[in-house]
Amino acid sequence: MSDRKIIAVMGATGAQGGGVARAILGDRTTGFAVRAITRDANCDKAKELARLGAEVVAADIDDVESLEKAYKGAYGAYCVTFFWAHFSPEKEVAEADGMARAAKHAGLEHVIWSTFEDTRRWVPLSDPRMPTLMGKYKVPHFDAKAEGNRTFTELGVPTTFLLTSFYWENLIYFGMGPKKGPDGKLAITLPMGDKKLPGIAAEDIGRCAYGIFQGGREFIGKTVGVAGEHPTGAQMAAALGRSLGQEVRYNAVPPEVYRGFGFPGAEDLGNMFQFKRDFETAYCGARDLGLSRRLNPSLQNFETWLARNKSRIPMD
Ligand SMILES: NC(=O)c1ccc[n+]([C@@H]2O[C@H](COP(=O)([O-])OP(=O)(O)OC[C@H]3O[C@@H](n4cnc5c(N)ncnc54)[C@H](OP(=O)(O)O)[C@@H]3O)[C@@H](O)[C@H]2O)c1
Repeated sequence: MSDRKIIAVMGATGAQGGGVARAILGDRTTGFAVRAITRDANCDKAKELARLGAEVVAADIDDVESLEKAYKGAYGAYCVTFFWAHFSPEKEVAEADGMARAAKHAGLEHVIWSTFEDTRRWVPLSDPRMPTLMGKYKVPHFDAKAEGNRTFTELGVPTTFLLTSFYWENLIYFGMGPKKGPDGKLAITLPMGDKKLPGIAAEDIGRCAYGIFQGGREFIGKTVGVAGEHPTGAQMAAALGRSLGQEVRYNAVPPEVYRGFGFPGAEDLGNMFQFKRDFETAYCGARDLGLSRRLNPSLQNFETWLARNKSRIPMD
C-alpha cells in the first residue's frame, strides 16, 4: 500500500467518484490506491468501498480544512462538485476553489477536475437566443464549473480538466426515461432537434479518469473530453425501442418548451441542451470517442449500456 500512489476521490459514494474508485480497486495490477472521501464513513456505500480495499476518510467539500486533511499524503485527487445538491453556481465555484486550495496545500502531483465549458464563450449574456439565468449565467451548472477552473490554474495545481457527457443513467434516475404519451406510445423528450447528444455510462467516466491518472504527465494541463457515443435523439429512441422490444418515439420539443417544464433545474437544462444543439460541432468535437476508448478500453456505447441496464429503465 505504502508504495502505491494514493488518489483521493471526492464523491466516492456517488456516480463519478464511485466509478473512479471502482476502476482503481478493480485493477489488481494497479500502482494506485484509493482514498474514498465521504461525509459519512459509516454509510453502506463507504463500507462497500472499504471492503473492496479503499481507505475511507470523512470530509466535507464545504470545509477546506477537512479537504486538506483528506488530501494529505496523496499523489492525486479526483475533484467533482455536486451542483444538483444545492442548485447554487456560486457555491459550486467556491467548492472548486476549496478543492484547488486543498490540492495546492497538500502538494498533489495530479488532479482531475470534472468541469464543463463556459457556455458564455459561445452565447454571451447579451445574446437573446437563450435567457440569462440567475443574473449572470446561461447554463449555471456549466458556467460555474468553468469558473471553477480558475483557481486550479492560478495556483498552478497540476490539473487535467475533464469534460464529461450526459449520463445515460439520467434515463433511470433523472426522470428522462421513455414516458407514455396520450396515445399510449412511449417517447423520450429532448430539445436536441436532429443534433447529436454525446452520452456516456457514468461508470465509464471513472474508468476514463483512471486512464488519465495512469497517463500522468501526458494529460497534465490538458483538457480531455470523454463520451461513449454521440447519438442523435432519434437514434437513442430507436436503440431504446430495439432494446425494450417496443416502439419508442423521439419527442423533439423546442428548448423554450423544455425550459417551461417547471421541474427544478428545467431552465438550466433547457439552456444546456440548446447549447449542445446549437454548438454541436464544438461540443461533440471536444469529446473524442477514440481518446475515450484509449483511456478506457471497455468503454460502452449506448447499445451496450442498454443491454446491461434496460431492466432498470422505468417506463411510465
Ligand atoms: N447527470 C448528468 O448527466 C451529469 C453529467 C455530467 C456531469 N454531471 C455533474 O456531476 C456532478 C455530480 O456528480 P455525481 O453525479 O457523481 O454525483 P452523485 O452521484 O449525486 O454523488 C454525489 C456524492 O457526492 C457526495 N457529496 C455530496 N455533498 C457533499 C459534500 N458537501 N461534501 C462531500 N461530499 C459530498 C455524496 O457523498 P456522501 O453522501 O457519501 O458524502 C454523494 O455520494 C454534478 O455537478 C453534475 O453537474 C452530471
